[in-house]
Amino acid sequence: MLELKDLYGGYGKMTILNGVSFKIDRATITTLIGPNGAGKSTVFKAIFGLLSIHSGEVLLEGKDVTRSRPSEMIAHGVTYVPQGRNVVPQLSVYHNLELGGITAKDQSTVKRRIDEVMDQFPILREKRNEPAIALSGGQQKQLEIARALLLDPKLILIDEPSIGLSPNLVQEVFQTLIRLRDNGVTVLMVEQNARSALAMSDFGIVLELGQARMHDRADKLLNDPRVGQLFLGGSMEAAE
Ligand SMILES: Nc1ncnc2c1ncn2[C@@H]1O[C@H](COP(=O)(O)OP(=O)(O)O)[C@@H](O)[C@H]1O
Ligand SMILES: [Mg+2]
Repeated sequence: MLELKDLYGGYGKMTILNGVSFKIDRATITTLIGPNGAGKSTVFKAIFGLLSIHSGEVLLEGKDVTRSRPSEMIAHGVTYVPQGRNVVPQLSVYHNLELGGITAKDQSTVKRRIDEVMDQFPILREKRNEPAIALSGGQQKQLEIARALLLDPKLILIDEPSIGLSPNLVQEVFQTLIRLRDNGVTVLMVEQNARSALAMSDFGIVLELGQARMHDRADKLLNDPRVGQLFLGGSMEAAE
């Protein structure tokens, strides 16, 4: 459903992506792993229209969407949850959710969708009138995911959702992503927590120096000694 073809791009004159190619199928979870600075977040920015692309193509369901603006990508059914905390702390949970529908023309649909996502995340309904800052870290991540779901996306790009979360909360967020996949949403995730992320993914991609070096079923990558080696002393080990 998403294909990157020999993508080159970067910041100003600096090239970070050096010919990234991969293809992911609908309703699967794929995790992008790789050392710090490999270009994982940059891949997301390239897909979502936040990077200057020098050459190559991004295809979404066969359609060329290379260099589409973020607003256009949203209209194509793509949503992006960046790394870190992205809720508006002083705004209520409900108003944070509303922001997810800010580009929608029909605000009555937005109201209905907020209701639907609150069904999926009961804790958000419970705390709808509280400021987002009052939520725990895991709940804030769920709020971000829920907000990203407001326009019913086909593809969700989620960058390091586990950062700063306790192992229990990480599992909660992963369960949310599995539920989305089971409902037909395609998930592309970046994770430092490589071992636990691969354990819940269908596929994994190893990104190194701006290239997709390996792409396989997640269980195969987990058992591949080369992958273990790449992360020796790094997150693959630490995640155990
Ligand atoms: N906004 C930016 N401007 C210039 N260089 C950047 C910017 N963001 C990231 N980089 C550089 O691009 C490279 C890849 O970064 P990134 O995609 O964030 O890596 P990863 O997510 O794999 O850790 C790094 O060398 C980083 O310093
Ligand atoms: Mg990153």
